Amino acid sequence: SGVRVRVPASTANLGPGFDTLGMALSLYSWVEMKPAASTVFHLYGDNLEGLPQDKSNLVYIVAQSVFAEAGVDIPELEISMYSDIPLTRGLGSSASAIVGALYAANALIGSPLSASKLLDMAVALEHHPDNVGASLYGGIITAVWDGVHADILRIEPPEQLEVLVAIPEFQLSTSKAREVLPKQVSLSDAVYNVGHTSILTAALAMGRLDLISAAMRDRLHQPYRAPLVPGMMQILEEASQHGALGTALSGAGPTLLALVDGQAGKREQLEGFLIEVLKSHDISARTLWLK
Ligand code: HSE
Repeated sequence: SGVRVRVPASTANLGPGFDTLGMALSLYSWVEMKPAASTVFHLYGDNLEGLPQDKSNLVYIVAQSVFAEAGVDIPELEISMYSDIPLTRGLGSSASAIVGALYAANALIGSPLSASKLLDMAVALEHHPDNVGASLYGGIITAVWDGVHADILRIEPPEQLEVLVAIPEFQLSTSKAREVLPKQVSLSDAVYNVGHTSILTAALAMGRLDLISAAMRDRLHQPYRAPLVPGMMQILEEASQHGALGTALSGAGPTLLALVDGQAGKREQLEGFLIEVLKSHDISARTLWLK
């Protein structure tokens, strides 16, 4: 008999928390796994089109790494997958596939590996803990990684916090969006981000939505990535006048994310603003309201 797991999408960074803050989003992928006589894949939905359907599939490879770690031998698998998470848009689709594979494979053999071990294995594949941490633990997470081991703290999101994402129709690879980053930054920019990340983390933990707008500012990655997502700087600078608590590039982009006080209304105004700014740069985007 098999297992089925549902894994949330995630947004990384939340502005200042580059590679260290993440949040799970109510957009999901599913993976189903069971032992089989020979390996077979069932991929459903547009978001999985073109993925390999043999033993080079990431989900198969990751599952085998769990079995190897646990000393179990299950070479042939029947794997079914479905995903609502758009690919290469900064919504953690690859992290969710990795976490789904790890979690499903571990559950299939009676969960011998701890969540912390699964996290370390996931980060080893992703090289930053923010997306995989959020997909594995849910909620808002703050994470550190020393190259081998990740430590993670989960924060329960404030009740009224809602998320609006504007997903441009073009794809942007994480590697391309990391190539534009400087290898070194000034001490003052580092201090700026440490301070803003600290305030943002504390504000989210304490439900201080009034501090989010001032806290979600960043000097480590968004200014360098701005040319890759035309319209982004205008959105980051002006969205608070249209009802956003704070705005950020979601992960490595191109998706833009606004945190919103669900009790404050103004939903349509904000949505319209994001769509209009992107449209003025010839970018069509679709919006989703998530928790
Ligand atoms: N923290 C990462 C980045 C997330 O911004 O490059 C990308 O998946």
